[in-house]
Amino acid sequence: MEIVIANESHFKYAKIISDTIAESAKVRGTGIAQRTPEYIIKRLEHENAIIALDDDKFAGFCYIEVWGHQKFVANSGLIVHPDYRNQGLAKKIKKAIFELSLKKFPEAKIFGITTGLAVMKMNYELGYKPVTFSELT
Ligand SMILES: CC(C)(COP(=O)(O)OP(=O)(O)OC[C@H]1O[C@@H](n2cnc3c(N)ncnc32)[C@H](O)[C@@H]1OP(=O)(O)O)[C@@H](O)C(=O)NCCC(=O)NCCS
Repeated sequence: MEIVIANESHFKYAKIISDTIAESAKVRGTGIAQRTPEYIIKRLEHENAIIALDDDKFAGFCYIEVWGHQKFVANSGLIVHPDYRNQGLAKKIKKAIFELSLKKFPEAKIFGITTGLAVMKMNYELGYKPVTFSELT
């Protein structure tokens, strides 16, 4: 398994990332926002994403959202393909996207936005502090 910063060479995965997010949202009924391949391609283009690949098979993805003139960044859209779940992959992707956020945006406040218990636990372990919606900037 390789977990790398995504770039133009990963454009071909935009569709399967988008489809996997859509499938999971259907199963779960809530929580994860629909993302078009075009939206994902933009994150790849700016190298604001982490992708996990098993040889050339898509395994997982997460991206960085930037706003407020780079004063705020959020790690969002964490997805692990069903074939690769419960092996600790989400944790590794979360760690990689957190480190990328710190490196690219050292001055920014970093948020993790989630409705899922699993992701909340992971964020907590990385040192995020829980805040309510009204406390978000
Ligand atoms: C949530 C998701 C990313 C987890 O991926 P994963 O690779 O299976 O997770 P990991 O194996 O790294 O597990 C990380 C931790 O979360 C826990 N966990 C995993 N799935 C869970 C679930 N559905 N409910 C509760 N806890 C869960 C694991 O037990 C583990 O905790 P531990 O460290 O105490 O053992 C994956 O199931 C997924 O893509 N789901 C659909 C999309 C989604 O819900 N994304 C989050 C939107 S906010």
